[in-house]
Amino acid sequence: MIGKRSPIKNDTVNVAGETAGPRHVAIIMDGNGRWAQKKGKLRTFGHRAGVESVRAVVRFARKAGIESLTLFAFSSENWKRPEEEVSVLMDLFNLVLNNEAKRLNKNGVRLKVIGDLDAFDTKLVEKIRKAEAMTADNDALVLNIAANYGGRWDIVNAAKSLADEVSQGKLSVDNIDEATFNQFTSTAALPELDLLIRTGGEHRISNFLLWQCAYAELFFTDVLWPDFNEDVFQQAVDDYNVRQRRFGLTGEQVASAGN
Ligand code: IPE
Ligand code: IPE
Ligand code: MG
Repeated sequence: MIGKRSPIKNDTVNVAGETAGPRHVAIIMDGNGRWAQKKGKLRTFGHRAGVESVRAVVRFARKAGIESLTLFAFSSENWKRPEEEVSVLMDLFNLVLNNEAKRLNKNGVRLKVIGDLDAFDTKLVEKIRKAEAMTADNDALVLNIAANYGGRWDIVNAAKSLADEVSQGKLSVDNIDEATFNQFTSTAALPELDLLIRTGGEHRISNFLLWQCAYAELFFTDVLWPDFNEDVFQQAVDDYNVRQRRFGLTGEQVASAGN
């Protein structure tokens, strides 16, 4: 049974012992290439098939009352792949924006793209900005697509912005703390990351949300991304829901705070 959650609130963070479902879930959507190769097809066939899984997780997230869903679509390192594969991924991104933006809007989903967009074609960036503007007032779910995203890039970018503020005299070095730093990351407006899922069997972060992973619960599955569906997502959430998040406290402290 999927529980209904409260509307989006950006001003609270999860605390030790909290038992409610995850507010912010991120997914490393891995395994498209292997899925296709197993079927004797080109890797790009797997990327196309993966779009259906994206639809499924957005649907699930809305039903489950998850406030924010962050999907790793293209890493800053993925440019190193064969040109043909990169080009298919860019075409697919364009196609999905064309075909899905209106539907997302109708379903109350707010779309946001995080990552270094400077490397993208200007037409694609325009399309992204348009979709973001169209969906800006929606509050059923925030869908963040991480494209040309790297966790280290995010941290360096935040550091640069902070340095800028300091050099303009708007911020003093003594006032830089974790909360201030967080405000300059690409997920500043979102709740803390609660659950990170990686499909495709690898047990690594691959330069995804490094700053944000500090206290995220990690869930790894061998399921390849095109085979990921609402049932596997539910398994990950069920697993999350029975974990005790201690945030440095003892299990006893957490248990007694929960009473
Ligand atoms: C993830 O699937 C999608 C992207 C990185 C764009 P992969 O393409 O990495 O699939 P595998 O890991 O090679 O199977
Ligand atoms: C991570 O997957 C990036 C995305 C899912 C978009 P990769 O397939 O690029 O990660 P590595 O290379 O196996 O670490
Ligand atoms: Mg991979």
